Amino acid sequence: MKLPNGPKIPVLLQMMRWIANPMSFMEACAKTYGETFSISLDTNSSPLVIVSNPQAIQQILTNDTKELEAPGELNRTFEFLLGKNSVITISGAEHQRQRQLLMPPFHGERMRNYSQVITDVTQNVISQYQIGKPFNIRSATQAITMRVIMQAVFGLHEGTRAEKLQQFLGELLEKASSRLIVALLYFPALQRDFGPINFWGKQMRHQQETDELIYEEIRERRKQPDSSRTDILSLLMAARDEADQPMTDQELRDELMTLLAAGHETTATALAWAFYWIHKVPSVRQKLLQELDSLGDNPDPSAVLKLPYLNAVCSETLRICPVAILTFPRVVKTPISLGGYELEPGTVLLGSIYLTHHREDIYPEPKQFKPERFLERQFSPYEFLPFGGGARRCIGLAFAQLEMKLALAKILSSVELELVDNGEIRPKRRGLVTGPDRPIQMIIKSQRQVKSPVLQTTTV
Ligand code: HEM
Repeated sequence: MKLPNGPKIPVLLQMMRWIANPMSFMEACAKTYGETFSISLDTNSSPLVIVSNPQAIQQILTNDTKELEAPGELNRTFEFLLGKNSVITISGAEHQRQRQLLMPPFHGERMRNYSQVITDVTQNVISQYQIGKPFNIRSATQAITMRVIMQAVFGLHEGTRAEKLQQFLGELLEKASSRLIVALLYFPALQRDFGPINFWGKQMRHQQETDELIYEEIRERRKQPDSSRTDILSLLMAARDEADQPMTDQELRDELMTLLAAGHETTATALAWAFYWIHKVPSVRQKLLQELDSLGDNPDPSAVLKLPYLNAVCSETLRICPVAILTFPRVVKTPISLGGYELEPGTVLLGSIYLTHHREDIYPEPKQFKPERFLERQFSPYEFLPFGGGARRCIGLAFAQLEMKLALAKILSSVELELVDNGEIRPKRRGLVTGPDRPIQMIIKSQRQVKSPVLQTTTV
């Protein structure tokens, strides 16, 4: 078997470049070796094949379980945080079963129930910021997504335990995003607890404290079951497997941590990017405000969801700055031909969401923020794939889109925002997601009064 070409530099150097800036490393490789290339990040395993051709990505994502599989073992990087029983770290039939358990709360009627929570939480968070005082927009969006996901997962975001859990979890995820932790993930030998001075040890202790709060909540629910509750924890606690067994506390903890981590950090970062781009490109802000104002004060969430330009702005944000730059890894099960290469069983493939979204042939001027492209053209699910696809497609896709749209609509309609400086902000790896390389400082210039739609039509 001949693997696609890739950099000839030593594995350690490749790993360093990957840790420092995976986007620029991938871009450099694509420039030299083309749309399919191999990189090596570990001396003990075979190279990883990175793919950014939509046909090849389609072949990968539509073949999950036939020629390819998406084993959870390859997502071990996340195990330190999510545990061994997370839907992300398990495989095969068990993975499918767990997905089926987790998906109902993210569909249909249930989703609509979250609209009011999102709008109320957003209103509450933004009202705490003062006019004229600079703040990091990501702190605001993190506060929103944390409270919203707490509500969806536990059915509560207020009260002592909920507040403590939000604080602990926020700190835990912030630390998990540090470059040092990311580097330690690639050097398992250093992941040891050397006492209180040790960084990894501190992280683990912090995690135990957070876990303890989750277990407390589970214990309390077991003591006082309430069949009227519709939050995800209640649903998971009521679920039974084929042997009529409920999920263990450890399994529940791992799934809850997965949803809290995946549902909070990702959407908060996507929202922060959206605010950055909307205010970086004045014409986008202007068009978007016009569209939002056309709905009047306190619009119906379903009307907000249908706004075409808002939808295009969210899509363009996730295109230009995808918070997940790669799909989860897939492994070849039976020999396949992909992108002109004959690949043997065991080869690990990754769809590069970042490179695909930055292809000049699909997205002309890919470094420019142009929501209009999503109004002019329909992109296939293999050209535009911020939420991945196939057997591991993001469970929270609709939830994240709902949250992005409603939070953006609420904030933009309530306050006039401005970027503190006009300098460029680039994507940087932040542990589990790809976020801004420095804080996006914004300022509230004034409160906004939404003009009534009738008034608007008469003045236009
Ligand atoms: C803008 C926000 C988000 C983005 C860009 C995003 C992106 C992704 C991507 C790229 C994957 C991997 C898909 C693949 O390999 O094919 C994924 C998986 C996943 N996401 Fe999201 N996600 C977001 C929000 C959420 C939310 C809100 C939740 C839950 C509340 C969530 C839960 C999950 C879970 C559980 C998986 C693993 C699915 C599996 O392994 O079967 N995500 N997400």
